Formats: sequence, C-alpha cells, structure tokens
Amino acid sequence: MEDAEVSPVPIVEFDIVNYVYPAHATVPQTATSADAIPAQQAALDAISFTVEPGEFLAVIGANGSGKSTLAKHINALLKPQSGRVLTVGLDTSEPELAFEIRSHAGMVFQNPDNQMVTSIVADDVAFGPENLAVPHDEIASRVDDALDAVKMTDFALRNPAHLSGGQKQRICIAGVLAMRPDVLILDEPGAMLDARGRRGIRRIVRELNKGGMTVILITHFMEEAMLAGRVLVISEGRNMLEGAPIEVFAHKELLRACRLDVPFSLLLAEELCARGIKVPELVSPKELREVLLCLHSKA
Ligand SMILES: Nc1ncnc2c1ncn2[C@@H]1O[C@H](COP(=O)(O)OP(=O)(O)O)[C@@H](O)[C@H]1O
Ligand SMILES: [Mg+2]
Repeated sequence: MEDAEVSPVPIVEFDIVNYVYPAHATVPQTATSADAIPAQQAALDAISFTVEPGEFLAVIGANGSGKSTLAKHINALLKPQSGRVLTVGLDTSEPELAFEIRSHAGMVFQNPDNQMVTSIVADDVAFGPENLAVPHDEIASRVDDALDAVKMTDFALRNPAHLSGGQKQRICIAGVLAMRPDVLILDEPGAMLDARGRRGIRRIVRELNKGGMTVILITHFMEEAMLAGRVLVISEGRNMLEGAPIEVFAHKELLRACRLDVPFSLLLAEELCARGIKVPELVSPKELREVLLCLHSKA
C-alpha cells in the first residue's frame, strides 16, 4: 500500500488575525482622564493568508495599511489579539516559542543602518548565528556562504559604515541568511535605496527564491511585486486581493481605491496590445524595452 502523501506545514499561516495598537501610544499628552479615549483603528483587521514552502509572496499596500504590523506578527514581535499566527507550525502567541520562531523567520527592515552592529562586515554577518549558539567552526562557513549568496564576499573585512546603502542592505540579508531561516521577510528593503541599490536587492531576492528560499517581500514598488509568484494586497489591515501578479494588477480600479498604482510597464503593454502589437502579458520593464527597440528598428 502506498504511503498517504503528507502535505508540508505552511511556512506562515494567518487565521483571522486582529491587532489594535494600545490607545496610549497615540493619545495626545494634553488629554485628561475626562476626555474620551478615541477608538483605535485596527492595524490588522481579520487578515488571513498562508505562505507555502518555496513561495515568493509580495505584500503590497499604501502607507499605514498594516504591512509592517503584519511582518512583526510573523516573528512574534507582535502577537495577535484575536485569531492565530503559525510560523513554521509554531504558535506565535506562546511566549516560550518566540526565540525559536525568530530563528526560523529572518527579518530585514527598511533601514540597514539600524541593523548593523559591528565595524567588520564578516563579524556583522556572524552576529546572528553567534546568538543562536552555532558552533564556532560552522559560523565561519555560514558567513562565507551568506556573503557569497549576496555577492559581497570581497567585502568581508571592510567596515560596513563605508559601504553604499544597497551594499549595507545586502550585508543585512547575509546576516539573516547566516541564521539559516526557513523564510526571509523583507519589509520595504529598498525604501531607502537608489534605483541601482534596489536592482541589486531584487536580483538577490529572486535568486534566493529560485534556490528554494521562501520569501515574503513587503514593498510599495509595484514593479518589485511583479517578480513574486503571488501578490497579497492589503488596505486598512484587511485582505483586499490575492493572486498571481497578472491577476492582481488587472484590478486597476480596486488598486487605485487602495491608493496603489498599476506598474507602468503593464499600462504601456496594455496600450500596445490595444494597438495590435504583441507584448507578453506579464511584461517586465526589460522585456518591454526590447519590444519597443524592436518596433523602433522596424519603423
Ligand atoms: N507603534 C505604534 N503605535 C500606534 N500605532 C501604530 C504603531 N505602529 C503603527 N501604527 C499604526 O498602525 C497602522 C498600520 O501601520 P503599519 O503597520 O506601520 O503600516 P505600513 O507598514 O503599511 O505603513 C497605521 O495606522 C499606523 O499609524
Ligand atoms: Mg511599514
């Protein structure tokens, strides 16, 4: 008799998750006890989604839509007030699991300067595994592998303070990879970088995912979301849309209502199609440039 197929545990599972920040965080200092405390708007409002091993999910939403709050729930920095978050099957509401959960879910934030702790790149990358009490010999090979994955091997002995923003962010990614997480969560990693820095991060994230790493990329750059296998759109802490990039970006009006844009390359591709010019459905800016150059040379 054949063994029943065992389905893998989802890497991340949000089940009707609600979170409201404590009211005192925003009550003005002039408020007296007689003043009514304004009802706080939910930062996460019944949000549900699942991420399977090996997936690349992009989470998009306008400023204040709850993206960072969502990310902080994945590694138990915040706990749901109702509903449930499971990270690699571990319930984030269990205080004794927080350390283990953080070793599985590696987080990269917007500002690389806030994530650097030492004055030598290799030491910085070693910091995470050292905290996990990884044996000393193994740390060296983990650091080498992680620097190689972000194409920063030649910078191992440099001072991170002297690197560009994009290079610093790659070191932060290496620091997380050296902990050998099951999922890499990047919260707007390109927000403080120039276009070149962002391109470098995009390339590395895509390669990591092709190599099997599960990726959750939070971004407000729509072109970045097109790289993902699946896109989750959130607005006011709620699920709005979910699907393959091509499906999600077809909902132009809904995206605009969520204060989001449709990627420029898709709008242009649509115009070209309407004029009878063949363009791939989910065209990347690079492919679009080829199409346009080809048209130009025929003109
Ligand atoms: N520490 C905090 N205290 C009180 N409110 C917060 C805090 N952090 C975020 N918020 C509020 O929660 C909502 C979601 O914020 P956030 O998750 O940071 O959104 P995003 O990352 O999409 O910009 C916003 O209304 C924001 O003002
Ligand atoms: Mg944010």
